[in-house]
Amino acid sequence: MTDQGRSIHSPSTRDQWWRDAVIYQIYPRSFASSRGPVGDLPGIASRLDYLRDLGVDAVWLSPFYGSPQHDAGYDVADYRAVDPRFGTLADAEALIARAHELGLRVVVDLVPNHTSWDHRWFREAIKAGPGSAERNRYMFRDGKNGGTEPPNNWTSVFGGPAWTRVADIPWVAGTPAAADQQYYLNLFDSSQPDLNWDNPEVHAEFRSILRFWLDRGVDGFRIDVAHGLVKDPALPDWTEHTEMLDAGTDADHATGHPVTPERPPMWDQDGVHAIYREWRSVLDEYGPDRLLVAEAWVQPEKRLARYVRDDEMNQAFNFAYLACPWDREALRRVVEESLTAMDAVGAPTTWVLSNHDVVRAASRLGLTVTGKGPNGIGPRDPQPDAEKGRRRARAWHMLTAALPGSYYIYQGEERDLPEATMLPDGVRQDPAFFRTNGTELGRDGCRVPLPWEAGKPGLGFSPTGGTWLPQPADWERFTVTREETDPDSGLHFFRRLLARRRALGLGIGGLKDVSPEVGGLAYINSAADHSRPDLLTVTAFDAPVPFPTGWRRRASSVPLDAAAAVIPPDTTVWFTR
Ligand code: NOJ
Repeated sequence: MTDQGRSIHSPSTRDQWWRDAVIYQIYPRSFASSRGPVGDLPGIASRLDYLRDLGVDAVWLSPFYGSPQHDAGYDVADYRAVDPRFGTLADAEALIARAHELGLRVVVDLVPNHTSWDHRWFREAIKAGPGSAERNRYMFRDGKNGGTEPPNNWTSVFGGPAWTRVADIPWVAGTPAAADQQYYLNLFDSSQPDLNWDNPEVHAEFRSILRFWLDRGVDGFRIDVAHGLVKDPALPDWTEHTEMLDAGTDADHATGHPVTPERPPMWDQDGVHAIYREWRSVLDEYGPDRLLVAEAWVQPEKRLARYVRDDEMNQAFNFAYLACPWDREALRRVVEESLTAMDAVGAPTTWVLSNHDVVRAASRLGLTVTGKGPNGIGPRDPQPDAEKGRRRARAWHMLTAALPGSYYIYQGEERDLPEATMLPDGVRQDPAFFRTNGTELGRDGCRVPLPWEAGKPGLGFSPTGGTWLPQPADWERFTVTREETDPDSGLHFFRRLLARRRALGLGIGGLKDVSPEVGGLAYINSAADHSRPDLLTVTAFDAPVPFPTGWRRRASSVPLDAAAAVIPPDTTVWFTR
C-alpha cells in the first residue's frame, strides 16, 4: 500500500532547529508563580524541568515587559524592562540561561503594532500636541466635521470605535491636552495606540529592541499582529467588523477559499513585508538560527506564505488549521493547502490548536458546531460536551504530531485542560468583555492559572494559593501530581506522543495522503532515505474505520482492546509495518 496514495510534501532536513520544533506557549500570568496570584518569571524557571521532561524543544513566552496590563501585557510601556509583577531583568536572564542549560530554546513576544498609552513616546506625543514630531510616531488625525466625528468608521477588534479622542484619555483630564481636538488610532483597546510605521524612527527603535533581547540570548520572536503594522494610507472607511481572528466564514470553509472580496485597509498591506526583511537582517547578524514567527490572521494560505519568504520570517501560525471544523474533508483540505503554500516558499508549516486568544481545543471540540468557536463561553451558554471535546482534542493532537513542520502547544493542553466556562462576570479582565458590554465574554476562560499539585491551595500555582482568576472546582484532576499516577492521563499521553514524534523524526518526514485507500483521514509519514519505518496515521471522524491490512498498531489516542480491529469515531491510531 505504500505505493498508493498521493505525495503532498517531500521530506526536509533539520538545517535549523525550528523546522520541526515543538514549541510550548507559556502565558506568564498563568503558568506558575513564585509569589502571589499572578504568575512570574521565577515561577516559570522553577518549572522548566517539567517542560524538558514533556519533550518540547522550545518555549514561547507571551509578554512580560513593563505594562499597565490593560491587555494582559500586550500593551507595552517599556520594551526593555520586565514588569515588576513578573520579576526583574535579572530574572529574565536567569530564565533564558536555565532554559538553555536544559536544551530548551526561548522565543519571546514582540508587540510592534501598538504600544501602551503609558509608553514614554505616547506621553510625549500627547504633551507635544498636533503636528509635532512626537505625534508622528503614532497615528494621530483630525476628526471629521470639525472634529466632532472620528477620521473614519473603523471599529476596534475589541469592540467600539478604533479612534479615541485625546480629550477622552482618562489621565488627560485637567491637563492642557483636554482641549485637544485630535484622535488617535487604536485597532485594539484605547490604551493601545497604533504606531506609525511610515516613520523611520519607529523602525530604528524596533531594530534596537530586537538587538536588546538578542543580546540577552533569546532564540527568536513571536510577532504580535504581524499583518497590522501598515495601514492603507488613505485610511478609507471599512464597513465590516474589524476582526483579528478572521479565519474565514463557513462559506470559505465549504469552498476552501475565502470569499471576502477585498482586503481590509488595516490588514495584510503589502508594506509590512519590507519591515520583516529589515528584521531578518538584524536577526541574521546573530547567526542563521534565530526564529521569527508571525501572528498573522491572513487568508488564503498563499497570502500567509508571503510572510515566510526566504528573506522575511521563518514561520507563521496556522490559524486556518486551528479554526478548521472537526471534519475530515475540511481538515484534509487545510493540511494539503498549508503544506503546498509553505513548501512553495521553503518554509515549514506550523500546526496550532490553541492559544491564549481562543477557547481551548478540549472544549471547542465539544461544542455542537466546531471551528473557530465563540469568543469565550460563560455559565449562561450551552456547555461543551467535555468527554467528546477531550477525546477529539487528543485525536487531533495525535494527527498533528504526525504532520511535518513545527508544532505549537499551549500551556495546559498537555494535560487535557478544558476552558473555564463558569467564570462569573465579576472576575473577568479581558478588555473585549468591557468594550462589548459583555456581548463577547472574551478570553479569560483559556487563561486561568494552571493547576500543579493536588491538595494544595490554588492547586500549587503559587505559594500563597492565590490565583488571579479562580480555578474551577474540579481542576484537581488536571494537576501534575494526579496525572502522574494515571498512565492514561493527558500528561503521559503527550510525553509518549512527543517522544515518538522525535524518535521517528516525523517533523521532517515526507507526507503522502492515503485517505481514499485507507478511509478516514490517513497519511503516511516517511523519512527521506527510508532510514526508519514509515508511519501511517489514521483518524476516524463520524464513522469507524477498519484497521488497514499489512500494518501493525503502535499507538492510539484512546486505549483500545488488544483485539481491536476498527478505529472508533473521534480517534487516531498510528501504525507501522
Ligand atoms: C494578539 C494577541 O495574541 C492578543 O492577546 C492581543 O490582545 C492582541 N494581539 C493585541 O496585542
